[in-house]
Amino acid sequence: MAIKHFLQFSDFTLDEFEYVIERAHIIKRKFKKYEPHHTLLDRTLVMVFEKNSTRTRLSFEAGMHQLGGAAIYLNTRDSQLGRGEPVEDAAQVISRMCDIIMIRTFGQEIIDRFAANSRVPVINGLTNEHHPCQVLADIFTFIEHRGSIAGKTVAWIGDANNMLYSWLQAAQVFGFHVNLSTPKGYDIDPALVSPSNTRYTVFANPADACEGADLVTTDVWTSMGYEEENAARLQAFDGWIVDSGKMQRAKPNALFMHCLPAHRGEEVAAEVIDGPQSVVWDEAENRLHVQKALMEYLVLGKVA
Ligand code: CP
Ligand code: NVA
Repeated sequence: MAIKHFLQFSDFTLDEFEYVIERAHIIKRKFKKYEPHHTLLDRTLVMVFEKNSTRTRLSFEAGMHQLGGAAIYLNTRDSQLGRGEPVEDAAQVISRMCDIIMIRTFGQEIIDRFAANSRVPVINGLTNEHHPCQVLADIFTFIEHRGSIAGKTVAWIGDANNMLYSWLQAAQVFGFHVNLSTPKGYDIDPALVSPSNTRYTVFANPADACEGADLVTTDVWTSMGYEEENAARLQAFDGWIVDSGKMQRAKPNALFMHCLPAHRGEEVAAEVIDGPQSVVWDEAENRLHVQKALMEYLVLGKVA
């Protein structure tokens, strides 16, 4: 049987997401009541990081411990990965010693090659092109606060980055619409969007993209790996801050999300991220619960 991976959002069907989300609700409730949930007893997660992380490392590592298993952290700096061992060889070796692997790396093709040579499921913990675990946590957070996301409008203000591409894939799976606005020269790459995706509209003016939205979301202007473009980006993104003026164009009960880390005064104003519509801390916490459900599903399949 083919091994199931989670390399981009479109790898799962709606039915699979509905199952994982249901399990995440159960797992979260048990966590809050200090009830053990050791469905991955004695299993091992290996985490490979080629970029920095706080939330992703913490949520996967704590999550695996809470499932009864163990988590091992590898990074490029002090493993052979940083000395040019082929990705294919690393995948063969790592996947013989564990039950599931999470990778944070640069190009999507790296994780695709790794997964093609892995004996166990591989999860994308962020690539240049996709951040599917974060968008899964964000959708879970939306559902907790507002119910079903089907038919809703999500406004994306800022860079055409990994988060946006995962939101666009999620819109197709869950049946919601993305209103997006990116500055000139930082538009979406059509090669990264399915030609069958009709679930988005591009706006030149970021405030117009917020009109009537149920959720307004953004991310850093300079993602990891693009640091040398920072000065040019600061200029180009002037006007793309999510501030209270833009939030007022959204529905009165609109939520604000940001995957974090955030830069107050750049992509988001303090009044918004620290204001009453912001659910950023719930988003961060929910990484833990949805990824526990995700790992459980990838290792065990449907158990209920
Ligand atoms: N949102 C997110 O993935 O955060 P980290 O970079 O801290 O993992
Ligand atoms: N788009 C950001 C997300 C960080 C969690 C980056 O890739 O750096």
